[in-house]
Amino acid sequence: MALRNLRYEGDEILRKKSKVVSVVDDKIRTLLDDMVETMYEKDGVGLAAPQVGILKRVIVIDVEDGNVYKMVNPVITKKSGEQCAQEGCLSVREKKGNVSRPMYVTVEYTDQDGNHVELDAEGLLARCICHEIDHLDGILFVDRIIS
Ligand code: NI
Repeated sequence: MALRNLRYEGDEILRKKSKVVSVVDDKIRTLLDDMVETMYEKDGVGLAAPQVGILKRVIVIDVEDGNVYKMVNPVITKKSGEQCAQEGCLSVREKKGNVSRPMYVTVEYTDQDGNHVELDAEGLLARCICHEIDHLDGILFVDRIIS
């Protein structure tokens, strides 16, 4: 595994739409592992591939619920409820703000072994999934700050 260099707000790559991954191969698995290592190094709870300069629909999450999620092509298929809390982002230094997100989401994705997974998430995990998928569409949390 290796650390990847982070991209920061102002870098135009963070504003681009990421491409769907067609095959989960060793290159994608290496990317997932490198992203997990980079996320831990920077004390983050999630990281999306554009944040390390790769425009692919790949995210990793660890909200300390005992799981590390490695998601390829994640899509939110259901959402309900609402929560509002402060967010930050490894790519946006020294800014925080309150963002409204669904309390519950169902996300479908492909895992590192190519298996299709459907996951029900709530609370911080749901928030983090929404934040990271936003990155894949060129959206930063600062676009959504309500206070
Ligand atoms: Ni972020």
